[in-house]
Amino acid sequence: MRKLIADRMGLIDASGIRKVFALGASLKDPINFSIGLPDFDVPDPIKAAAIEAIQQGQNRYSQTVGLGTLIDKVRDRVRAQTPWDDPKVLITSGASGALLLAFMAVIEPGDEVILPDPYFVIYKHVVRLLGGRCVYIDTYPDFGLPVDKIAAAVTDRTKMVVLNSPANPTGAVYRESDLRDLAEALDETGVLVLSDEIYDHFCYDGPCASITDHYEHTLLVKGFSKSYAMTGWRMGYVAAASEPVKRVIEEMTKLQQYTFVCAPTPFQVAAQTALDMDVSEYIAAYRRKRDLAVGGLKDHFELGYEPAGAFYLFVKAPDNVPDATTFVTRAIEHNVLIIPGCVFSEKDTHFRMCYTTTDEKIRQGVEILCGLAGS
Ligand SMILES: Cc1ncc(COP(=O)(O)O)c(C=O)c1O
Repeated sequence: MRKLIADRMGLIDASGIRKVFALGASLKDPINFSIGLPDFDVPDPIKAAAIEAIQQGQNRYSQTVGLGTLIDKVRDRVRAQTPWDDPKVLITSGASGALLLAFMAVIEPGDEVILPDPYFVIYKHVVRLLGGRCVYIDTYPDFGLPVDKIAAAVTDRTKMVVLNSPANPTGAVYRESDLRDLAEALDETGVLVLSDEIYDHFCYDGPCASITDHYEHTLLVKGFSKSYAMTGWRMGYVAAASEPVKRVIEEMTKLQQYTFVCAPTPFQVAAQTALDMDVSEYIAAYRRKRDLAVGGLKDHFELGYEPAGAFYLFVKAPDNVPDATTFVTRAIEHNVLIIPGCVFSEKDTHFRMCYTTTDEKIRQGVEILCGLAGS
């Protein structure tokens, strides 16, 4: 028979998450700590702006780069949050769209991409699809930024270092001093940093440090999905300050023309309203949920780090199981959905818990997990 599926598809392994979903599908009203999204709905003014945009006929393709009014607003935001005076911006279909275009624009077969491990799943799979080689930097058990290990891993083939702070799956936030040290260590190398800051609003114990303060050769990736709960609206953006990275954005724009075409136009209109919204109430609520979950787990599990951001905990599975996947299977049998760490890591020692649910569910779920750890 004629071969249909490209060999490269064999490089992608979706089995980890699929297993959880398959097991979870049979459960009635599970305690769901598996999904990586906020539990609040899109704030009303943003919804109203999207509805109005649709009703007023803003339903056609936008320019490939995005609506001019949104780009201006995003540029103002980037200028306010970085030392960059004249950033270039591309509006993308979610941060995922930005990641795909960025990797496609720069990765050649054999190129090395340095990924602190654990990592957000998309990085590994897209890099591998493109023939790139992931160089994993073990950050266990504190999930900080291992500057020396990253610097030592740079070779002539290194194309990029990917940073994600606040991080998925750990909720760790990098220290300003570590980011400064990494910038210094990379300064002479010319290595591109891709800084995925999609959780930038979700920083609970102080301001969110960014490599953009120290390293101009950075492609900044941000999104609207998490901050405004619009995961289904597919809105994100990239920004850059240095001329070489602005060239990367030009190439990404070319690719966007032939792939996504543009980000969804009515949601580009609504995203402008989103940028004016104050989401601090939601952030405060998630800080409390973080404290509730950590408080409940800490005497029964090894946490080993400060989960200071995003909305995840990455928790070591107890010693009474051979690996984290076994513990996750047991948890699911007890109606609690969590994700095994091997989905986000080369190790299978931890599990990810997303605490964006009601306080009651957090208490119930934590109690079940603690019970399993003791049994
Ligand atoms: C670290 C990180 N980056 C990017 C994304 C993609 O977000 P979106 O494509 O919804 O903007 C996610 C979503 O889970 C994420 O956790």
